[in-house]
Amino acid sequence: MTGTLPIRTADPEEAAVLMARNGCALLTGRGTDAAAAQAVAGDVLGELLALPDASAVREGGEGDRGLVGATEEMGVHVDGFAYGDRHPDALFLLCARQSAEGGQSMLVDGEGVLQQLAHIDPELWHFLHEVPVDLTEPDMHATCSPIVLRLPSGRCAIRRSPYMAPAPDAQDPDRDATLIARWSDLLGALGSVAPRFTLHPGEVLCVDNYRMLHGRGPFAGERVLWRIWAWSPRSGGLPEGALHSDSRYAARSA
Ligand SMILES: [Fe+2]
Repeated sequence: MTGTLPIRTADPEEAAVLMARNGCALLTGRGTDAAAAQAVAGDVLGELLALPDASAVREGGEGDRGLVGATEEMGVHVDGFAYGDRHPDALFLLCARQSAEGGQSMLVDGEGVLQQLAHIDPELWHFLHEVPVDLTEPDMHATCSPIVLRLPSGRCAIRRSPYMAPAPDAQDPDRDATLIARWSDLLGALGSVAPRFTLHPGEVLCVDNYRMLHGRGPFAGERVLWRIWAWSPRSGGLPEGALHSDSRYAARSA
């Protein structure tokens, strides 16, 4: 199974080990304010290339443009795609307040999915690794590259966002559109059956944003998380310009 439950720990060093091994961890015993959020990434990962200010995630979930309302499920995705190929490789979600109903989280292990795809759908596997796709969010950093981005270090960044379309110069745009849909549908289906877990106040979901896809179920009532995007030395590098833990500085005009 590629759905993953994060292992709880109160030890930031163990959380780092779990992130490296499993792609995720659930760090417990933290505070719930902005300062607590700001401290988490460094406590877990140590030295970082960039640690922007935390972003408060409230009604409407994590969609910076309110694409997904609280009453809808937010399918699994990676964060920071507005920054193009240089998106953050680490995501931390600190729960300040959990909703009265729902709001459970889920994770899908993208590496595990690809390992299985290599055997059961090699056409899709090759497409994901080799064929450039237009991943540009409107008005944000332009990016046209394979969905599975291989960095010079050998590390891969696996992506799923609402913005995936055949490249403008695609040789066979109809085929590319079909394969993009197959990838998106597969991850959507895996996310819908992935095991659910609840973040409680003071708990932090620590995610390898290059490997794992995350989402949440619908919820009712106030739900407040702090989101931290971090760029580690193992990331693909920093995007140009100012950074924040949302896409406010990712606009082309910024
Ligand atoms: Fe997200």
